[in-house]
This record gives sequence, C-alpha cells and structure tokens, in this order.
Amino acid sequence: MPETSYLSVKDFDSQRYHDVRPSYPQSLVDKIMDYHQGSCNELIDVGCGTGISTVLFAPHFKHAVGLDPSDSMLSVAKKNYPKLEFASINGEELIKSGIKPNSIDMVIGAESIHWCDLDKVFGQVNQVLRPQGTFAFWFYVQPEFIDLGRAAHDLYVKYCWTDEYMGKYLTDYQRKFFTNFGGNDVNIKLNQYGFKDVYHEIVNEFKDDGLFTNQTIPSFLMEGTITLNDFKKFVQSWSLYTSWTRDHPGEPDIADQFIAEFQEQCHIDSLTQPLKIEWATFYYLCRK
Ligand SMILES: C[S@@+](CC[C@H](N)C(=O)[O-])C[C@H]1O[C@@H](n2cnc3c(N)ncnc32)[C@H](O)[C@@H]1O
Repeated sequence: MPETSYLSVKDFDSQRYHDVRPSYPQSLVDKIMDYHQGSCNELIDVGCGTGISTVLFAPHFKHAVGLDPSDSMLSVAKKNYPKLEFASINGEELIKSGIKPNSIDMVIGAESIHWCDLDKVFGQVNQVLRPQGTFAFWFYVQPEFIDLGRAAHDLYVKYCWTDEYMGKYLTDYQRKFFTNFGGNDVNIKLNQYGFKDVYHEIVNEFKDDGLFTNQTIPSFLMEGTITLNDFKKFVQSWSLYTSWTRDHPGEPDIADQFIAEFQEQCHIDSLTQPLKIEWATFYYLCRK
C-alpha cells in the first residue's frame, strides 16, 4: 500500500489544508447526481479529509458520513462542519468497520482514492454499494497557469513530481496514476471488481506542444485566479511538502525556493498579482 503521508507525518497541518485547498464545482456535483440512479438514502465519502467533499453531497442524501483514517483531518472536519457526521475508517476496511453489504447508495472519493490499495478499496466499495449504486471519484492533478504556459507547467512538474524534489515522497504507482490521469489500468480494474457503465473524463491535459485538450463543456472545470502568495500556501498544504520539511531540517523553505524560481522564470512582478489558472482534473463514474 502507498505510504500515507497524512498519517505518517505527525505535524501535518490539517487546518491549513482546509483553508487553502480548492472545493469542487457545482457542475461536477450535478454531473454525478445526474448519473446516479434510484434512491438517495446513504452516502459515504472515502478519504473525506476536512469534509470539503462531504459537505457538497450531504444535502442530496438522507444520511451522509465522511470517512477518513486521519484523526487530525477529522478533528478539523468536525470543527468546520459540526452538523455533518464523520468516522475514523479507512477505505480498505469498510465492511470490517461495520458498514453493511448492499447498504450504500453512493460512495464518493475526492482526491483520496490514490492513498488506498486500489484492489482492496474497489472490492470494499463494490460490497457496500447496493445494486446500481454509484461510485464516483475524482482528482485534481495540478493548476495550469494559462497565461504562462510551458515554463510554469515544467516548474510544477519539477517540484511536485520528480524524485529530486518533493515527488520523491510519491510512490511510483501514485506518480503514474496522476500523470496518466488514472489511465486505462483503473478502467480495467473497475471492470474486474464488477463495476459497469464506467465513465472517465479528463480535463485540461497538458500536451507536449503546450496545448490543452479542453472539451467543449467539461463537467469538472476548476478555474480561477491565484497569487503567488496563495500558491505558496497551497504548496505548503501538500503532504509531500510536510515530508520534505521533516527530512530537511534547517534548510531554506522549499516552497520559498519554488516560488522564487517561478517568479523569476515566469517574469511575475508581484507576489500579489492574480494569475489565471485552470486545473488539470479527471474523474471516474461507475455503478455496481
Ligand atoms: C488530499 S486529501 C482529500 C480530502 C478531501 N476528500 C478533499 O477533497 O479535500 C486525502 C485524504 O485521504 C486520506 N486517506 C489516506 N489514506 C487513506 C485510506 N487508506 N483510506 C481512506 N482515506 C485515506 C487522508 O487522510 C486524507 O485526508
């Protein structure tokens, strides 16, 4: 199973995570709810973290529970959403934790399923879902700075995905998973575990020539502006950053280094200048 930095790094700052991580667009919620067939009684959110994903879906269900193995994430979730229900359960142990087979209408996983053993979590999700129940899971890969293009993209790749920088804390499997936008392996595995009607959409894949492949109306378009000051806080919310900082005590802050290089190479005058971003994202929908 991939190492879970959220759990293994004791001083991971879950409140900072909650403050700086993006939420998800209404169009994605609509897409998932349109896909869903039948009753909306029970929802579980696997790897709910601080509840950013749970709160978007809870209004659509009679009963919703956010599940996560990290006490730190769950305590921030409970503080921020006191009316929602959360429980300390990991994605590979849904049945063992007492969730009944065939009892759940929808399972969601936002930026979380890559932390689980895919075989185990797919098997568990399939067991707890009722027939025709929906499994929806999605990811953002990275922000693309649309006016800065290749230089910004390459710097992000260097700091986030390569072994010389913070990418060394990713398993090969996790890196491949993200850089392939899930890839065909995931589709095959979903079929193996009995899921059907698999739908996989990729938005804003960066091509070698620097062009995006935007679909006409992507359902999962995350866009906006970000200043380099806020981008630095986003980098500092990565589990990878927390692991790097733990292992490089006394060294200059790698987030500062990233931002300084970014500012210089992309010719950004000010750390407070809003920069337009669109996220590279992907998601899977399937049913039991
Ligand atoms: C990037 S966060 C995503 C949180 C939230 N879903 C969101 O959209 O902000 C990934 C979460 O996966 C959780 N996680 C790690 N290992 C897990 C596992 N084996 N099963 C379920 N969740 C896990 C982490 O504790 C963390 O809260």
